[in-house]
Formats: sequence, structure tokens, C-alpha cells
Amino acid sequence: MTVQNKLGGTFTFPGTSMTVNRMGYGAMQLAGKGVFGPPKDLDAAVAVLREAVESGVDHIDTSDFYGPHITNQIIKQALHPYPKDLTIVTKISAKRGPDGSWIPAFSREELISAVHDNLRNLGLEALDVVNLRAMFSHLGPAEGSIEPMLTVLAELQQQGLVKHVGLSNVTPKQVAEGRGICEIVGVQNLYNVAQRSDDALIDDLAKDGIAYVPFFPLGGFTPLQSSTLDEAAAELGATPMVVALAWLLQRSPNILLIPGTSSVAHLRVNLSAAELVLPGEVLEKLNEIALVA
Ligand SMILES: NC(=O)c1ccc[n+]([C@@H]2O[C@H](COP(=O)([O-])OP(=O)(O)OC[C@H]3O[C@@H](n4cnc5c(N)ncnc54)[C@H](OP(=O)(O)O)[C@@H]3O)[C@@H](O)[C@H]2O)c1
Repeated sequence: MTVQNKLGGTFTFPGTSMTVNRMGYGAMQLAGKGVFGPPKDLDAAVAVLREAVESGVDHIDTSDFYGPHITNQIIKQALHPYPKDLTIVTKISAKRGPDGSWIPAFSREELISAVHDNLRNLGLEALDVVNLRAMFSHLGPAEGSIEPMLTVLAELQQQGLVKHVGLSNVTPKQVAEGRGICEIVGVQNLYNVAQRSDDALIDDLAKDGIAYVPFFPLGGFTPLQSSTLDEAAAELGATPMVVALAWLLQRSPNILLIPGTSSVAHLRVNLSAAELVLPGEVLEKLNEIALVA
């Protein structure tokens, strides 16, 4: 069994010199309730980001539709000028309604303006990675051609505003379609120890060295709850969340983690998952959670 080193070892995105620690940070939880409006405690949000970077996190996931705009502005306030080795990954193709609803924003004009919003609010001249998030269904990945939208993003890449391109909330068919349009460095979909629909996709991407970045690694808005996780945590002297993250790190070397938290204490706990090695018999039990779910 591979022993995870500090922050899970490193991963280099395909066709790039961009290397990150496998344990990163997802910034979505920094905005207000429902990822809408300002946080209750701005200083606490800034502290989480600074603690992450001071702890060696060099991969932060965000979007300008978190807040909207607010999460990116907090990242800029906390970390700009950015450390040279920090990779900020953002996503486009949604906007927020006045009630906080998530609305597809897939037109050429909306995609271009989303890239410019991210550049402005993050204070960057070029974005490291932009994920095109498919928005064909509220329920998850759904078929539909991403060609028109991805072509716009590829143009922005050619103009130098976007360094690398990824996909989010996509089906394997859309990943194949996307790879025919431009180089795809990563896929960001819902996946965790209890939600494993992407098992085959992860293995396929791993063969080509493409990153798979699970969102909701801890269950997202409905935190993971499982007696198997609780038992494994008790046996290993860890917490269930740490076990869930360690399981992901051991699941495949192309998995990069971006657990989200608004708390420095939770951040520290989550980062410690990179140092937990799950023994084979524990892995076997954890693998049964998804079957039951
Ligand atoms: N591509 C997409 O469509 C998409 C969708 C959703 C999310 N994302 C990205 O994925 C990242 C991760 O997803 P997420 O933040 O929604 O979900 P998550 O990481 O699965 O879980 C976050 C939730 O778990 C809690 N939590 C975190 N650490 C904990 C700990 N050690 N103990 C107990 N509770 C803990 C957080 O609350 P506290 O704040 O209290 O810690 C928060 O409620 C996001 O930040 C975002 O960047 C992408």
C-alpha cells in the first residue's frame, strides 16, 4: 500500500508543467449561507485561506458564481499577490438569480463575461484552469453537446486568458467530445465513498494522466453519514471525514481533493487525511458503503 506523504504527494496536470499537492482546498464554503452573499465572518474566511496556503495547499478551487463574486474577492484579499506555485481553478457556465438560484449561463457572451469576471475578481491576467460546467440538468450530469461552449473556452485559451481547460458535471461521452476539441487537464464531478457512479470514468482518466477532482468529497450540503465510516474512524483513531478523504486519496492516484470548509479547525483536520493510510481490510469495508447506498 502506498504511504501518503504530506498533502498526499503531487500530481502534474497532463501536457503541463503545473504540479500540485493532491490535497487542495475548495473555497465554495467561504461565501454566505447557500453560497450566496457575504460570509458571517470575513476575517475567519480570510484566515482559512491563509492557513491553507501556509500549510502547503497549492490548489484552490473556486468560481465567480460563489457569492456571486464574493468568494473570488475574498481569495484576492487573502492571498494576492499569489504565491508563484499556487494553482487557482475556477469554473464557468452558471449565474445566480436574485434569490440565490443557480441559472445556466451557457451563451457565448455569458461564457466570455464569466472569464473576465473571474480575472477581475481574482486579480489575474490569465486563469490557471477553467472548468466548463455542464448545466443540462439540475440533477447531475446529463447528455447534450458541449461543443459550442467548449469552443468558446478554447478560443479564450488561444487568446491567453485561460491557460488550461477542464470539464465539470459531465458524462463520459461529454469528456470524449471535449477531448476532441481541446486538451482537457481535469474533470470535476460529484464523487465520494458513498457516490461512486464515476468509478469507470476515474479509471479511464487515470490511464491518460487526467486529473479527477471529486466535488462533495464529504457529501457537500448533506454530510456523509455511515456507520461503516464511523466504525473505521473509531478503529483508526481518526474522524469519519478524515477516513472519507483518505479513502479518496487511496482510490486512484489521479484523484485530487478539494474539501470545502469555512473553519480553520476543520481545514486542519481535513489536511491530516493525507497522512492516514487505510489498511486493506478497512478499505474493503468502506468499498461496501456505495453498494448499500
Ligand atoms: N463543479 C461543481 O459543480 C462543484 C459543485 C460543488 C462544489 N464544488 C467544489 O467542491 C468543493 C468541495 O465541495 P463542498 O465544499 O461543497 O462539499 P464537501 O467538501 O463535501 O463538504 C463541505 C461541508 O462539510 C463540512 N466540513 C468540512 N470539513 C469538515 C470536518 N472536518 N468535519 C465536519 N464537517 C466538515 C463543511 O462545513 P464547515 O464549513 O463548517 O467546515 C461543509 O458543510 C467546493 O468547495 C467547491 O470548490 C464544485
